[in-house]
Amino acid sequence: MLLITGASGALGSLIAERLAGRPDVRTGTRLPDRNQDQDRHQDRHQDRHQDRIRVDFDVPETLDFTGVDTLLLISAGYGEDDEVIARHDAAISAAERDGVGHIVYTSLTEAGDHLPYALPHRWTERRLRNSPVAWTVLRNGLYAELMAWLAAPGPDGRITAPLGEGRVAAVAREDLAEVAVRVALAPASHTNQVYELVGDRPLSGADLAEAAGARYTPATLASARATLSTPDAAPFQPPMLVGTYSAIAAGFLATPDTGTLRSLLPHPPRPALTAYAAALPGRP
Ligand SMILES: NC(=O)c1ccc[n+]([C@@H]2O[C@H](COP(=O)([O-])OP(=O)(O)OC[C@H]3O[C@@H](n4cnc5c(N)ncnc54)[C@H](OP(=O)(O)O)[C@@H]3O)[C@@H](O)[C@H]2O)c1
Repeated sequence: MLLITGASGALGSLIAERLAGRPDVRTGTRLPDRNQDQDRHQDRHQDRHQDRIRVDFDVPETLDFTGVDTLLLISAGYGEDDEVIARHDAAISAAERDGVGHIVYTSLTEAGDHLPYALPHRWTERRLRNSPVAWTVLRNGLYAELMAWLAAPGPDGRITAPLGEGRVAAVAREDLAEVAVRVALAPASHTNQVYELVGDRPLSGADLAEAAGARYTPATLASARATLSTPDAAPFQPPMLVGTYSAIAAGFLATPDTGTLRSLLPHPPRPALTAYAAALPGRP
């Protein structure tokens, strides 16, 4: 049996959608009974919820992986490093205890080492390398859809995200979901492999603006930090987002795909600019 964790997230729901109806697949999420209307990533198929089980890395009694051959462990990335590390450690420890044969983990690209949230990914990769369980690491690049959130035009038709002259090899989330499905369904041929999954065309602020029908007038990191530091932001959030802008602006996320993504997909990668434009707020 293949179990996917984090099945209500943006990536997890795309993966679950691709695997819907398979008798050998189960989906795990923190709130399996969540009302569809409350689901941030609303599903189109009501019946997909029927075999969801509760999996919450923060709640040890929900971590029963008996009978699971392959665990697709979607990183539970929002929180301070110690919280995220504890979640991933709990999931891997439960998998080891319950005899899971293979863990497929969604990580972060090596180029993302300068991002503020890189550390828990590297910790988890090291944890897997030291585990007796077979593993595959999918090092996901920044989602094109994330850029639609980080660099959306304002009401004045300007993108002010502080990307400087930097570029980002963003990748369509759908491509990452498709790779995850293909790897998780045939894990033996990907044992102990680390895949760097980035887009094939590094995008600049000007590229994003053109796709959005906007103008690019980048702000400074300081002004972005001030804008992001609202009373309802969690303390870790402004540094996380400012660090993302900074890494892009400094050119650390510009390295394009050298063929890995293409080799794991049965078709050419989806254009990241198209995914970006489609995900912009207010687009159908
Ligand atoms: N490459 C990128 O651009 C990028 C961008 C953002 C995030 N990420 C990372 O990739 C992951 C998936 O991305 P996404 O866009 O799907 O994020 P998302 O929509 O924000 O979803 C968050 C994910 O974290 C899971 N999660 C949170 N706390 C958990 C816990 N205690 N136990 C188990 N699962 C928990 C959620 O699972 P349920 O809600 O189903 O329980 C969900 O799958 C994120 O969690 C983050 O680590 C990558």
